[in-house]
Amino acid sequence: MKISRREFFTKTIQGAAIIAVPAVLGSVLESCSQSNPAMPSSAAGLATINVTPNNNTIALDINSSSPLANVGSAALVQFSSGSLLVDRPGKSTFNALSSVCTHQGCIISNYDAPSQQFICPCHGSRFSNSGQVTQGPAGAPLTQYQSQFINNQLIIKI
Ligand code: FES
Repeated sequence: MKISRREFFTKTIQGAAIIAVPAVLGSVLESCSQSNPAMPSSAAGLATINVTPNNNTIALDINSSSPLANVGSAALVQFSSGSLLVDRPGKSTFNALSSVCTHQGCIISNYDAPSQQFICPCHGSRFSNSGQVTQGPAGAPLTQYQSQFINNQLIIKI
């Protein structure tokens, strides 16, 4: 069977597209599903604190046995409907952030104390302790929650 030059050209382009599209799609999907690239050696898994909220409020006793006892510490505060990242940059200063990564929803569970950054275990996004993205792939900041530190108790509104 003889085909025209135009038909040959059209079939060649279609064939190339059939081969190229899955290859490009595959590399995009692979980059989205890669495990965490470089985790700094100074990063560590967060200590966890389990709490039961009361009227959308969490109350944490910050005593000498708390994972948040020292300035520079951080913890993952877990409760039945979710969890929060909490760090203590100053003696009476705390930050409370959503622990859900804004990239693909993994729970952020690592903290790099020297840089005061939270690090997502899935693809390595990093967030400052005010929730701002310092390294992607995440593109949006973490939600920040209001907190008050009174009489060695940290009160967080969720
Ligand atoms: S889910 Fe991808 S970096 Fe957090």
